[in-house]
Amino acid sequence: MSQTPALPRTLVLMGAGKMGGAMLEGWLGGGLSAGGLAVLDPNAGEDLTALAASHGFRLNPPLADLARPEALVLGIKPQMLDAAAPSIAALAGPDTLVVSILAGKTIADLEARAPSARAFVRAMPNLPASVRRGITGVAASAAVNPAQRAMTTALLEGIGLVEWVDDEALIDAVTAVSGSGPAYVFHLVECLAEAGIAAGLPADAARRLARATVEGAGELLHRSPLEPATLRQNVTSPGGTTAAALEVLMAENGMKPLMKRAVAAARQRAQELSG
Ligand SMILES: NC(=O)c1ccc[n+]([C@@H]2O[C@H](COP(=O)([O-])OP(=O)(O)OC[C@H]3O[C@@H](n4cnc5c(N)ncnc54)[C@H](OP(=O)(O)O)[C@@H]3O)[C@@H](O)[C@H]2O)c1
Repeated sequence: MSQTPALPRTLVLMGAGKMGGAMLEGWLGGGLSAGGLAVLDPNAGEDLTALAASHGFRLNPPLADLARPEALVLGIKPQMLDAAAPSIAALAGPDTLVVSILAGKTIADLEARAPSARAFVRAMPNLPASVRRGITGVAASAAVNPAQRAMTTALLEGIGLVEWVDDEALIDAVTAVSGSGPAYVFHLVECLAEAGIAAGLPADAARRLARATVEGAGELLHRSPLEPATLRQNVTSPGGTTAAALEVLMAENGMKPLMKRAVAAARQRAQELSG
């Protein structure tokens, strides 16, 4: 299989844990040529070692063999950044695109660790990336050129959709909406199940009903070109049961102001954490 032209010809992934590993599988499944790929993960487990052997990419080669790749993707934990900084500085050259998924680490934080590099991208993926149904918010430094933008999109499409924002400061809002968002949806399932129990259902049945409802509604949303408001209106007969519930949820003090407060709190916390 020939690889998508936008993907880099030489790529180093530093940190192939949950998120980095999901990206790696997405790239390999999407036809990235293993010949130009190297993965650095000091305690590589059996799965990663087997993946390297079956696809033929290099795993933990000497850094000197890897200097100045077209793209360097950082998939380590934010608290590992300082320990990894000498390797990052050794790898990233003036033409290397550095893509970071490290929560809370700013483009300025990255610039300080890779003094030779100029093009930096800060990305915020979310948990459904693990099933390649994530959405990643992305901001770029001024030096990122159109080809590097296309490269970033191609790389991040390995784990789902990509949403560019013009201003790095908006990454905190992305974090508050899509980064933390899956947990809000899980909580919605919990609330719906509890409400079902309060309405008289056996607990197990209420949990199954709530869970499958959110799964099914999510899948419908995924497959449908319609706006969520239209999907909602389509199942709401005037004077019916859904309308009765929505009157409560859409009241002045209902879900909209509650969600605004929740997102504002997450955004505020993201701002504090990225200092
Ligand atoms: N999971 C999410 O939902 C999510 C969402 C948004 C953003 N993120 C971001 O994604 C990043 C990765 O998170 P994760 O959940 O995938 O973490 P993870 O599973 O712990 O993966 C990090 C990997 O990096 C390896 N590593 C440590 N030091 C290294 C070094 N110097 N060089 C190369 N590899 C090194 C770790 O190995 P050891 O285990 O041996 O230390 C581990 O395999 C984080 O920065 C996080 O902020 C995650």
